[in-house]
Amino acid sequence: MKSSLFMGCWDFLQNFFGGNTEKIRLYTQFSNCKPSEKVLDFGCATGITAIGFKECEYLGVDIHLPSIIRAQEKYPAKDFPNIKFLCVDAYKLNIEDFDHVICAGTGHHLNDNDLINILERLTTKLKKGKSLHFIDITITYDTPLFARFMYMIDRGRFIRSKLEYDLLLSQLKNVTIEPAKIEKVIKGINRFRMIYYEIKKKE
Ligand SMILES: C[S@@+](CC[C@H](N)C(=O)[O-])C[C@H]1O[C@@H](n2cnc3c(N)ncnc32)[C@H](O)[C@@H]1O
Repeated sequence: MKSSLFMGCWDFLQNFFGGNTEKIRLYTQFSNCKPSEKVLDFGCATGITAIGFKECEYLGVDIHLPSIIRAQEKYPAKDFPNIKFLCVDAYKLNIEDFDHVICAGTGHHLNDNDLINILERLTTKLKKGKSLHFIDITITYDTPLFARFMYMIDRGRFIRSKLEYDLLLSQLKNVTIEPAKIEKVIKGINRFRMIYYEIKKKE
């Protein structure tokens, strides 16, 4: 069970050291969402990267109610009319026809079975020909020691290599998957390596 105090401290530290700014840069760069496109952010937590999508029609969903309450406080509807949040299990979400689904930072918290099931489910939320953007930390030969230490203490127990992701994601049906891109996180306290897959729903 996630503690709200831990969540608040983590959010504060990442903001302070620039990690959240770096996530916003990467997520918006990878997904390349255009103004007024419909975006679903699965596992949005406290709306950490929502600001990057303020010109889009953004819906952040998370199963953890305190995170959603915090996100709604950070982004009041009167100031951010395009940003909305919903506390829901993504398996039970009954809204669809999104131009983009973002699944970021959540994969390493899910075992193979749960991850594949949720990605299958999320791709059904997309319009045909549109993409799910899978973004997560990964392990590479050049991951610095400090980042490896952070991986060790991360609560997500399923940090995967590119090879492991390639094998796992190849199980998805009715999608095409672009080859992975790996980026270095250059700001923040961690120097993580981030992996990105564009998973496109077939026409
Ligand atoms: C590690 S956080 C990722 C936060 C953010 N996307 C980021 O990139 O930093 C993963 C989030 O996924 C949420 N989550 C896990 N399973 C979920 C589900 N079935 N439906 C909705 N949210 C879920 C968790 O509550 C958690 O807030």
